[in-house]
Amino acid sequence: MSELKKDIFKSLKPLYYSGYRPKLYIETYGCQMNVNDSEVVAAIMQKAGYSITKDIGEANVILVNTCSVRDNAEQRIWGRLECFKVEKKRRRDLTVGVIGCMAERLKETLLENNTVDIVAGPDAYRKLPDMLEQTERGQKGINVLLSREETYADISPVRMDKTGVSAFISIMRGCNNVCSFCVVPYTRGVERSRNPETVIDEILSLSRKGYREITLLGQNVDSYKYGNVNFARLLQSVAETFPNMRIRFSTSHPKDMTDEALETMSRYSNICNYIHLPVQSGSTEVLERMNRKYTREDYLHRIEKIRKILPDCAISTDIITGFCGETAKDHRDTLSLMREVAFDFAYMFKYSERSNTKAARMFEDDVPEKKKIERLTEVIALQAELSLKSHRKHIGSVVEVLVEDVSKRSNEDLCGRTPQNNMVVFPKSGCKIGDTVKIKITDCTQATLKGKIYGGQA
Ligand code: 5AD
Ligand code: SF4
Repeated sequence: MSELKKDIFKSLKPLYYSGYRPKLYIETYGCQMNVNDSEVVAAIMQKAGYSITKDIGEANVILVNTCSVRDNAEQRIWGRLECFKVEKKRRRDLTVGVIGCMAERLKETLLENNTVDIVAGPDAYRKLPDMLEQTERGQKGINVLLSREETYADISPVRMDKTGVSAFISIMRGCNNVCSFCVVPYTRGVERSRNPETVIDEILSLSRKGYREITLLGQNVDSYKYGNVNFARLLQSVAETFPNMRIRFSTSHPKDMTDEALETMSRYSNICNYIHLPVQSGSTEVLERMNRKYTREDYLHRIEKIRKILPDCAISTDIITGFCGETAKDHRDTLSLMREVAFDFAYMFKYSERSNTKAARMFEDDVPEKKKIERLTEVIALQAELSLKSHRKHIGSVVEVLVEDVSKRSNEDLCGRTPQNNMVVFPKSGCKIGDTVKIKITDCTQATLKGKIYGGQA
């Protein structure tokens, strides 16, 4: 295309037509926080005149919300950018933006990729409409400034889930922990908590729309603090204000989780008895190099406390294999801790060095890839055993399920979760999405419980 043609083409771009709403497609990778951030971005863009589309083929703008936590997460994004490159050749008016953690980590480097027009870090989303306008003038845009205050508290996220049952609410952003392996404090900046009144307002609006469950999100919810409101107080006021709403939260930190929070959970039946408590490793030496600030014994002590205060609480965790200097003994310590705790569920990863983190600067990434994978395989196999055992315990019992969706396997079945976060699949039997039902568990796999309706709705 000649330069002149290009100019004419640009001047005809849809943004310039009054009344025309350019279409935005958002693709999200990574954690629950990113899912919620994409909803915030959708709200900002909608206000600026964009309409949100679920069909990438009709989009004028594609934003890809990215994760940097491990190298394979970033490799996937590079792969996606290759696809967008092909798409851009076909549709020259297409604009592509990379937002989120990878944008923050790689900054200008991303703009060297011809496909990328804008780069926006997690605290720059309010600037996206201006940045996109800039691309209309043929300029690329970048904003990776991190903020000490931004919580997007005043923005009502545009929910993009298909069923309207369960929603994420960010209660804080950033992380002050600096675990040595983790890139998050660099990509998401310092910790800041959101005004609790805005949290309550957001839940109120969700409850009016028919939502039945919310998950309070933060990198480290236990360090939530706004004035004199700590996490336990926030939980209490949410639970009291919304007695018909199921309340979940994630992620807890073993060094910060308080008895006060556990006791609050025990007092309110609408707070789900489920805690995600990443351990990372079962070896105190490794934990020290990871800068986790607790020992194996501290962790086990926390678990003991949870079991004492909340006897039927499910516990899941995150585990990293092959961290710098991890010996065969350290690995065995992880396996033995997993057995001792008998986690109900775990997310398991092999260590992936992230440049500029404390671990990358201070330690050698010295566990060979083959060993990392071997250990990861062992950890996954053990967790499969533990998850199956945990599920088998439920056979014969009656559980309360919030119906979330139609089962992926069969249109005749519905699925939903118990307060302990077990996925349950059961025949429809006249129930609908959003109902809370009692299910008698008859069978299970490592991933799901199976059952049938027990004496009508809960
Ligand atoms: N390599 C592997 N796993 C990591 N995680 C965070 N950083 C890394 C890394 N560099 C895992 C941790 C964390 C979860 C969100 O991701 O287990 O809890
Ligand atoms: Fe990363 Fe540790 Fe913060 Fe979690 S608590 S985001 S692992 S630095």
